[in-house]
Amino acid sequence: MTSETSTWQTPTILDPSSGTPYAPRVSGSIADEQSGEDDQPDDLPESEEALLAPLGPTGRVTPDFPAPQPLSAHGPARVIAMCNQKGGVGKTTTTINLGAALAEVGRRVLLVDFDPQGALSVGLGIQTHDLDVTIYNLLVERGHDIRDVITQTRTPGLDLVPANIDLSAAEVQLVGEVARETVLARTLRPVLDDYDAVLIDCQPSLGLLTVNALTASHGVIIPLECEFFAMRGVALLVETIDKVCDRLNPRLTVDGILATMYDGRTLHSREVVRSVVDHFQDLVFHTVISRTVKFPDATLAAEPITTYAPSSPAAESYRQLARELIARGGAA
Ligand SMILES: Nc1ncnc2c1ncn2[C@@H]1O[C@H](COP(=O)(O)OP(=O)(O)OP(=O)(O)O)[C@@H](O)[C@H]1O
Ligand SMILES: [Mg+2]
Repeated sequence: MTSETSTWQTPTILDPSSGTPYAPRVSGSIADEQSGEDDQPDDLPESEEALLAPLGPTGRVTPDFPAPQPLSAHGPARVIAMCNQKGGVGKTTTTINLGAALAEVGRRVLLVDFDPQGALSVGLGIQTHDLDVTIYNLLVERGHDIRDVITQTRTPGLDLVPANIDLSAAEVQLVGEVARETVLARTLRPVLDDYDAVLIDCQPSLGLLTVNALTASHGVIIPLECEFFAMRGVALLVETIDKVCDRLNPRLTVDGILATMYDGRTLHSREVVRSVVDHFQDLVFHTVISRTVKFPDATLAAEPITTYAPSSPAAESYRQLARELIARGGAA
């Protein structure tokens, strides 16, 4: 594995809505900040109304994301990996709540717990140690049907492939497999037509399981916690995504970077978001997830925020993320 350096390899990142490459400004060293007029975005709002509109937390005018149209038919699913090898940045929270927000607007959603910690499963009220078959069995044993492993959650339209600690053995067991990087893609294939979105909750590592998740996916969402070291490791993550894209899965795109645990009262949070937008520009979702105790509370209650505190700003932020993702073409 290449060690992390400050030299930035611009990833092959396609705009999911147009299929054309983004043109990231970043090149050379992260510290090599450009200055002056070149830093201004090209697409400054033109109408007076837009100029007067308040800037959102990312320092840009937040567009109005339209309410998603109802779907007349379901599938095939777009598969999205929630990925960041840094721990505790909001991958699992985003998987649960983005999934629930998509289900709320009539999408059929399958969540895949791909972390041996099983936090996604537990966060949806599944007692993981009682399970006979999990994603682990689907990956390493023949003869299982994924439909027997899929569990309905209490949220209508939201299903789960659970995981537990067994999955920690899979990384070692898969090493000797033929086409070991595509095992998850093959596992999910039989049910893709049943869903509109499949969200994979990755573990905090860039090992073989995460490479499997990236190989099975159309898109990646990268949650970044709004704290000083948020960008640490992102170069390595982008490099890994780029390699998977080159060697295993050319359709893979970065759907967006999501700022999480944002506290608008602190200059620190605002500066972190600003620097993330400086580096990744339009890849950064306009939607920002604020820091609130409602999320740990909802996890304890084993419920998505959209039902635990349905009228809270926290629930609304994940609903907006769902609308933004759909508007960008990242989900049906
Ligand atoms: N916006 C938020 N505000 C406050 N707390 C949050 C927020 N998002 C997540 N948390 C809490 O932070 C902790 C870590 O979140 P989460 O489990 O989603 O991160 P993760 O990236 O999946 O972690 P891991 O890398 O360990 O899998 C959890 O206790 C969660 O409840
Ligand atoms: Mg997690």
